[in-house]
Amino acid sequence: MYPEDLRSTVDAALERLRFSSDAATAGLEEAMRYSLLAGGKRVRPVLTLATARALGADPEGFLSVACAIELIHTYSLIHDDLPAMDDDELRRGVPTAHVKFGEDVAILAGDGLFAEAIRLFCGQPSPPSNVLAALGLLSAATGVDGMVGGQYVDVAGEATDSRGLRNLHELKTGRLIAASVEVVLALEGLEEPETIPYQRFAGELGVLFQIVDDILDVTGTEEQLGKPRGSDERHGKLTYVSLFGLERARELAVESHANAAKALAEASGDTGDLKRVADYIFTRNE
Ligand code: IPE
Ligand code: IPE
Ligand code: MG
Ligand code: MG
Ligand code: MG
Repeated sequence: MYPEDLRSTVDAALERLRFSSDAATAGLEEAMRYSLLAGGKRVRPVLTLATARALGADPEGFLSVACAIELIHTYSLIHDDLPAMDDDELRRGVPTAHVKFGEDVAILAGDGLFAEAIRLFCGQPSPPSNVLAALGLLSAATGVDGMVGGQYVDVAGEATDSRGLRNLHELKTGRLIAASVEVVLALEGLEEPETIPYQRFAGELGVLFQIVDDILDVTGTEEQLGKPRGSDERHGKLTYVSLFGLERARELAVESHANAAKALAEASGDTGDLKRVADYIFTRNE
C-alpha cells in the first residue's frame, strides 16, 4: 500500500550521502548518519517523489531535494529529543543521538544536517530560478512561521484551545510535510490554478499526520513506534488526545483524512501514490 519502491529509492540515496572530507570531523559525520540511517518512515521524501510522479516527472530527478527534506526532518528529531526539549531516549528504535554521542555532539549533528540539507538542495538539477523559489519555500516551512516556530509554541505552552492546537500542528509538523509536496510544484514551475488542490491536500495531510502522532503517543507500543510512548503526557503537552479525548481525536483524524482525499481528487495527474501515502498516514501504527 505504501509506495515501497519510492521508500527504497530514498533509503539508498540517503545511504550514499557523505558529509565529512576531514578526518577531524569524521565523528560528527558518524553521528549525523547514525540518526539519519536508523530507520524512519521517510514520509516526507516519499511525498516529494510521489508528487513528481503525479506531475509526470521522473522521481529520480528529485532525489537531492527529497534527501534534503529528510535531513531537515532528522535534525528536528535530534533536537526534539534533547533533554532540554522532550528528553526522550529512544528514536527510530535506537538510543537517541544525545544518549549515544552526548548532548554537545547531538546538537552539532542537528546543526550539521540542516546546513548539509541546504547544500544538497542547491544541487537540484532544475532551472535555477525554480530551485531558488523552492528553497525559499522550504526555508520558510522550517523557520519561525514553520517547524521551529511550532516547536516554540509547543515548548512555551502557547496553545491553549482547539484553534491554538490546530495552529501548533500546522506549524510544527504541517508546514514541513506540506513543503515536501510544494517544493516539487515550484521546481516544475507549476502555477495556479493547478497548484491549488495539491496545496490543500498537502496542508491537510500535515495536520492529519500530527493528529495521528498524538493518538499513537497514547495507543502505540514502543516497539511499533521506535520511540517512547506517553512522552506528551509526561510533559503535560496539549495534544488532540488531551484536549478532545481519544474517541473524538480519532473522529477528527477521519475528517482530516477525508478532507485530504477530497482535495487530492481535484488534482490533475496520476495521484495514486499520493493517495496511498495519505492512507498510510491515516492507518499507520508505526
Ligand atoms: C515524528 O516524525 C515527528 C513528528 C513530526 C510527529 P515521523 O513519524 O515522520 O518520524 P520518522 O521519520 O518516521 O522517524
Ligand atoms: C515533534 O513533535 C515534531 C518535530 C518538529 C520534530 P513530537 O515531539 O510530537 O514528535 P515525537 O512524538 O517526539 O516524534
Ligand atoms: Mg516535541
Ligand atoms: Mg518529541
Ligand atoms: Mg509526538
